Amino acid sequence: MRKPVIAGNWKLFKTSGEAVDFVTELVPLVKDIIDVEIVIAPAFTVLATVQKKLEGSGLHLAGQDCFWENEGAYTGEVSPLMLSDAGCSHVIIGHSERRLYFGETDDTVNKKLKAALKGGLTPIFCIGETLEEREAGDTFNVLRTQIAGGLKGIPAGNVNRMVIAYEPVWAIGTGKTASDGQAQEAHKFMRGLLSEFYDWTIAEETRILYGGSVKPENIKGLMAQPDIDGALVGGASLKAESFASIVRFKQ
Ligand code: PGA
Repeated sequence: MRKPVIAGNWKLFKTSGEAVDFVTELVPLVKDIIDVEIVIAPAFTVLATVQKKLEGSGLHLAGQDCFWENEGAYTGEVSPLMLSDAGCSHVIIGHSERRLYFGETDDTVNKKLKAALKGGLTPIFCIGETLEEREAGDTFNVLRTQIAGGLKGIPAGNVNRMVIAYEPVWAIGTGKTASDGQAQEAHKFMRGLLSEFYDWTIAEETRILYGGSVKPENIKGLMAQPDIDGALVGGASLKAESFASIVRFKQ
């Protein structure tokens, strides 16, 4: 019932030539996959170039962030309207690197989620605990605070239009994936939170992705978990072949 999503987050990688090479290689490798929502999140500067290459492929384009106003005197920002205009259907919001290096808080994440939804984009709302928080036994409290803060004032009818990405900070770019059991435990807890904050139907309809050192070797085990609906992939999304084999997790 929940269509799996596999999203590649390119972060601060790829010039336009590299992006074109990637897409040219990727599209034929995944063209027969229709039961997975495939999303690519390049840097802003190559969105339009990638969009042209994706035309007719069925693949989706995402921004890696957006601001909460559509226009104004906000130097350096990019709005939901501008992302749609560049061909995006999705936008990553609240990635832990933005929280860590760029002062993103639950409050700014909340404003961005609302703006993205209003602009017709599908937000990929990222949350996750640090190693210290996990070791202190605080994982569930952190997830509760981040979900409650991020979703504040967002009505039920909009929540199931979003995608949530659970990305334990200690697993991002470290090669250390959460075990299938650890990830499932967190996902089940988050689905429980959605049913507490909204209702069970909303919880059942909302897709929750796992992120943090996802690779072709561990995607099958993760996707076999009942509450894991896909993956947000960083490092392994930079090579067409490894991203394609993650997308083809069923084979
Ligand atoms: P990683 O990054 O796959 O390189 O760990 C995941 C992410 O940050 O979304």
